[in-house]
Amino acid sequence: MCLAQANPSDCDALAALARSAHSHPWSAKQYRDSLASGHTCWILRTADETEQGRGEIAACCVVSRLFDEIEILDVAVAPQWRRQGVGGYLLQRIFSELPEDIARVLLEVRASNRPARALYHKLGFSEDGRRKNYYPKPDGSREDALLMSLVL
Ligand SMILES: CC(C)(COP(=O)(O)OP(=O)(O)OC[C@H]1O[C@@H](n2cnc3c(N)ncnc32)[C@H](O)[C@@H]1OP(=O)(O)O)[C@@H](O)C(=O)NCCC(=O)NCCS
Repeated sequence: MCLAQANPSDCDALAALARSAHSHPWSAKQYRDSLASGHTCWILRTADETEQGRGEIAACCVVSRLFDEIEILDVAVAPQWRRQGVGGYLLQRIFSELPEDIARVLLEVRASNRPARALYHKLGFSEDGRRKNYYPKPDGSREDALLMSLVL
């Protein structure tokens, strides 16, 4: 798989990936706005070519930088690529590409999201806190966000 930075022409495909991964997915416009605001969207593409002439997007991760920290805003692996090391590989590749002055990686994750929490723990993240009733759930109720960080 190839690591690359997404551009606006990838945003429809990113929104399709988000719909397969999240209960409240970003739209193509939200991905475009995110890129326009200076966030970086990393993508992993498969090597084989599709009808569009490029490999499919197997995974993505949007990060924003503030001083010496980055925040992970979005991570998604396409359903057919899960549990094959792709999410872990994507995050480790991104961390290896970060400028040397980045000291810490921050993120928020739904308390109920066991796969993502297990992935972050495996990569060395620790749980620092909790925002009560932060995320909306599909049934109209709410759930906590866990605040996690990794010192690089
Ligand atoms: C969370 C997600 C990104 C993980 O991606 P992935 O490519 O399947 O993860 P990996 O194969 O790299 O797994 C790495 C580790 O994460 C943990 N993990 C991943 N999926 C898991 C699952 N379904 N159940 C339990 N642990 C899991 C395991 O510790 C795994 O290591 P192991 O395979 O040695 O047991 C993927 O499930 C996904 O896209 N989910 C929907 C979107 C989402 O929840 N994003 C995160 C928002 S904060």
